[in-house]
Amino acid sequence: MFAIRSQYTDSINFFGEITPHELADAHGTPLYVYNENILRQRCRDLKALSSYEGFVVNYSVKANSNPALLKIIRDEGLTVDAMSPGELAMDTLAGYEPEDILYISNNNTPAEMLEAITHGCLVSVDSLCQLDMYGTLNRGGRVMVRINPGIGEGHNAKVITAGANTKFGIGADRLDDILAILNKHELVLSGLNQHIGSLFMKPDGFLDAAGILLQIAENLPPDVFRQLEILDFGGGFGIPYHKYDHEERLDMAALGRGLDATIRSWAAKTGYRGRFLVEPGRYVVAECGILLGRVTSVKSNAHTHYAGTDIGFNVLQRPVMYDSFHDIEIYRQKGDSEKPMMQTVVGNICESGDILAKNRLLPKIEAGDLIGVLDAGAYGFSMASNYNQRFLPAEVLISADGSARLIRRRQTARDLEECLKGI
Ligand code: LLP
Repeated sequence: MFAIRSQYTDSINFFGEITPHELADAHGTPLYVYNENILRQRCRDLKALSSYEGFVVNYSVKANSNPALLKIIRDEGLTVDAMSPGELAMDTLAGYEPEDILYISNNNTPAEMLEAITHGCLVSVDSLCQLDMYGTLNRGGRVMVRINPGIGEGHNAKVITAGANTKFGIGADRLDDILAILNKHELVLSGLNQHIGSLFMKPDGFLDAAGILLQIAENLPPDVFRQLEILDFGGGFGIPYHKYDHEERLDMAALGRGLDATIRSWAAKTGYRGRFLVEPGRYVVAECGILLGRVTSVKSNAHTHYAGTDIGFNVLQRPVMYDSFHDIEIYRQKGDSEKPMMQTVVGNICESGDILAKNRLLPKIEAGDLIGVLDAGAYGFSMASNYNQRFLPAEVLISADGSARLIRRRQTARDLEECLKGI
């Protein structure tokens, strides 16, 4: 492909039979582009973590809930979670049966919880209060409890979801209270789950936390222990965002060896015959997605050279929300690359914080260029918003045969007007 900076996508043939310019001409920008081969490969990496027959990869759909992607993920044999009625609807559209959807939610209203129960999903609750609510709504039902194992990990404080400083889970010191509420409503404790946080690049913390969950399970009274069908260690598996610096990948072989040995020996020791789950979101979808955007203007203000694009933080929030790094490629149909210079890539939102990439040494970006934001498949579209009344972008899938197909059309003003009708 003729491009100014595209060695990474060229090396993996990301765009298949089509070019970024053809995609932009056909569907406009900003545009999320996904690659089916990469998505399938990531699903297979995860399934290969353990050959234990009760080992299940449960995809956390909050990372990306496009039903076309969910169908591929289902085809690869992964189950899913849902954390809201909307996610439940997307899972269902993709063909998931209620028994393959774990409803792992937070601070539900009674109506939301009832919807999940009525749908037939197993629900995980993450406070004593929600456990009591569950019991009131579904006396005698099966329920899971989210444990806070006391240790957390993540790329940013905002995504560390266990330990002393988070709202999540119930501490192991409240086991007696859990048992009392189960007893009060004659509930069956079908499982325990946890999620320590998002993005680890070394296996140790995850494996330590898995050990803690198993220990907590073992401490349950024998009659309750026997009810357990699911022990869910959560997600958090990291991906290397610094592609052009050749950042090392998470060592999945080492993680797999540790996990497989842990679950096998623990099952043998305790007689547990249920499932063991991991619940990755990012690892499944991040690398199969690139966000294409158009450079609309370039300018220098004081000491900073800006490349202005149509990728505002309404389209990709991660850099603004967490200071996250995404590598950037530059695609140009005609013209040569000038020597690299320091540039700051920004969007079209009315805030100075609307920065996609700060002070990057990149070949000079010109107005009219296309840029590709790498590793945008996870928490990209799923966190996009209508801020500044900008429209949610379109999504395209490059299929295994290299052809591209639209899997979500771009929003229009009519979509925004729709929910105001009759008001
Ligand atoms: N399970 C539960 C209960 C979760 O809350 C999460 C993510 C996952 C699984 C999947 O975690 P993952 O494997 O994707 O790390 N928006 C942030 C990430 C927030 C993750 C929240 N929970 C980001 O863009 O980095």
